[in-house]
Amino acid sequence: MKTLIDEETIKKRVTEIAKLISAEFNCQPITVVAVLTGALIFVSDLVRLLNLPVRICFVRASSYRGETTVPGDLNIDSSMLPDIQGRNILLVDDILDSGHTLSKLTSYLKDKGCKNIRTAVLLRKIGRQEHPIEPDYCGFEIPDKFVVGYGLDYNDEYRNLPFIGELD
Ligand code: IMP
Ligand code: MG
Repeated sequence: MKTLIDEETIKKRVTEIAKLISAEFNCQPITVVAVLTGALIFVSDLVRLLNLPVRICFVRASSYRGETTVPGDLNIDSSMLPDIQGRNILLVDDILDSGHTLSKLTSYLKDKGCKNIRTAVLLRKIGRQEHPIEPDYCGFEIPDKFVVGYGLDYNDEYRNLPFIGELD
């Protein structure tokens, strides 16, 4: 496996993003909504660097099934989501690929009556986007390669790698 982004580089960038988010919200409480399972590692590093009152919750969104890497319909499981009415939301995902997940979840959370919503992704794949959504915070732009590690999986494996690797 080829390392695309090493551990130290990720750490530095996550720290920068946390500073930007803390500055934007300026002590206002936020509810971080992390997309399971891929955002798990990113969100856990990010929230520990936020200088804000933070609540954390999860939604599950699945568009990739089994051993295939072809996206299907998006399933949203919001059973772990509290009442978000009137709250500042930071939606966190591992990667923006087609943009389907982020744009669907953003409208879903808006419909639930949140006060405002910002989005943060660790990675953004260049040349793949189908839905016009701009993440408010993005860690790294990457080429159109299938990547794993730091939460990202292939068939539920490799999530625990501390770096982003390019799968052969
Ligand atoms: P989108 O809905 O097409 O933007 O896809 C976003 C979701 O697809 C992410 O939350 C990931 O779970 C998954 N995904 C997209 N590209 C990759 C990849 O290169 N490696 C692992 N998962 C990916
Ligand atoms: Mg995902």
